[in-house]
Amino acid sequence: MATEAVVSFAVERFGDMLIQEAIFLKGVRGKVERLNKDLGAMKCFLEEAEKKQEEDVRVRNWVSEIRDAVYDVEDTIDMFILNAESLRTDYFLKGVFKKLINRHKVGKKIEDIQLTLQDISNRREALGIKNIGEGTSGSGQMLRDLRRSSPRAEELVIVGLTQEADKLVKQLTVGDQRRRVISLVGMGGIGKSTLAKKVYNHEQIVEHFPDCRAWIYVSQDCRPREVYMQIINQVSAPTKEQAEMIEKYGENELGDFLHDHLKEKRYLIVLDDVWRCADWDFIAKVSSNDPDCLGNVFPDGSNGSRLLLTTRYKDVALHADARTIPREMRLLSKKQRWDLFCRKAFLDADSESYPPDLKELGEEMVDKCNGLPLAIVVLGGLLSRNMSHTEWKKVHDNISAYLAKEGQMGVMAMLNLSYIDLPHYLKPCFLHLSLFPEDYVISSRKLLLLWTAEGFVPEQNERRMKDMAEVYLNELINRNLIQVVRMSVNARVTKCRVHDLV
Ligand SMILES: Nc1ncnc2c1ncn2[C@@H]1O[C@H](COP(=O)(O)OP(=O)(O)OP(=O)(O)O)[C@@H](O)[C@H]1O
Ligand SMILES: [Mg+2]
Repeated sequence: MATEAVVSFAVERFGDMLIQEAIFLKGVRGKVERLNKDLGAMKCFLEEAEKKQEEDVRVRNWVSEIRDAVYDVEDTIDMFILNAESLRTDYFLKGVFKKLINRHKVGKKIEDIQLTLQDISNRREALGIKNIGEGTSGSGQMLRDLRRSSPRAEELVIVGLTQEADKLVKQLTVGDQRRRVISLVGMGGIGKSTLAKKVYNHEQIVEHFPDCRAWIYVSQDCRPREVYMQIINQVSAPTKEQAEMIEKYGENELGDFLHDHLKEKRYLIVLDDVWRCADWDFIAKVSSNDPDCLGNVFPDGSNGSRLLLTTRYKDVALHADARTIPREMRLLSKKQRWDLFCRKAFLDADSESYPPDLKELGEEMVDKCNGLPLAIVVLGGLLSRNMSHTEWKKVHDNISAYLAKEGQMGVMAMLNLSYIDLPHYLKPCFLHLSLFPEDYVISSRKLLLLWTAEGFVPEQNERRMKDMAEVYLNELINRNLIQVVRMSVNARVTKCRVHDLV
């Protein structure tokens, strides 16, 4: 389990303990609270440290020391709970005596852990690890710049999106005249932005929205003012004076200005890579008191205007427009995978003409990518640079490591964004899935039982714990980190699996 998740989990358990064992904690409560705070602070450094540990062995040791300290914390919590439990059943005097000894032991243990954490923390600066709040804005900005999408950079090789694109063009151009938000949903790297780009540049779309199209890359770092400025620059041609005036506008004034500009027009605005329901609300200026009012910034002139949104999360799509079913992207079929790989690795699509030994290795590697276009493109690009059997075999034998490093920020870094974005209570559940073999179809019933047995779900009565575990499962599905394999007749997930690369 990643150390950050281990710490989150311990902090969570401390929180539960502070609430549930309030009476028994008398006397050590202050110490427990302080230790909990120290751990919370440690969490802020871990994200940065976990990124650095690959390059620096000292950082790796530092992270593993934290992990050991946290396991100590876990043992202490268990010891405490066990003792508190036995005290509940003891006679009064015996109970009081045991309670004092127990408190002393727990108090001493906590002091020791605190000293260890202090020591670990003191070495942090020397290792150059910054608090996530202090130092990651640079790397966050870099990631944002690298991922920034633009409709001009359309892919030269696109496999299998023709039908999808035709259907989407239709949905954008005919039917309902009310303003609609159509969303493309799917896991990272599945091709949402690629499809959006293809459609944005489609001649029917250009004709249908002749003078009012805009493409905005929203990202995890959503800034409404920037979004408005970009739309205004793409849909209007402000004079120099107007531009100077607009520059001075605050966020709300800009929103009003944009609304007025769009009011009489039929527009198409692509919001690429939206991560949060709240970001949609911020951009569209949807009031929480009146969620049905269809966005104050994007007016509904009943003239066929459309917003096209791409997101990894289904709930964001439904939040933006509950009346429109999100379009869920599919992984590439067996034939499409091989076709894309050949065009990237061998730079053509004639799959019969390759050396048989490379073909075999290639097929095995493509299987590992499990139909995820991002992974196939990165893998193909990497292998096209050196066509020797030895080189391909090297990659073949260690494919995950190669995929992690290769590409603009590495395939894993792209997929990891979804993990980083998980709330702390879902991280242990998600990491637990790595215990299942690749390609394994998991029974949801068993999975939910395992999660409750592992203590990933807050303790309450059995029924409610099971329901809560199911909520967690659905949340991971909604985030496209777990794929549904089978549903029951009453629409509950009965079988699921995780993409091999996640
Ligand atoms: N059908 C396809 N044919 C060829 N290449 C594709 C296809 N779909 C995606 N790709 C390639 O895969 C990579 C990832 O695609 P894309 O950026 O569209 O993913 P995404 O779903 O938008 O991911 P994210 O959630 O990270 O934004 C790109 O390099 C793109 O060129
Ligand atoms: Mg995208």
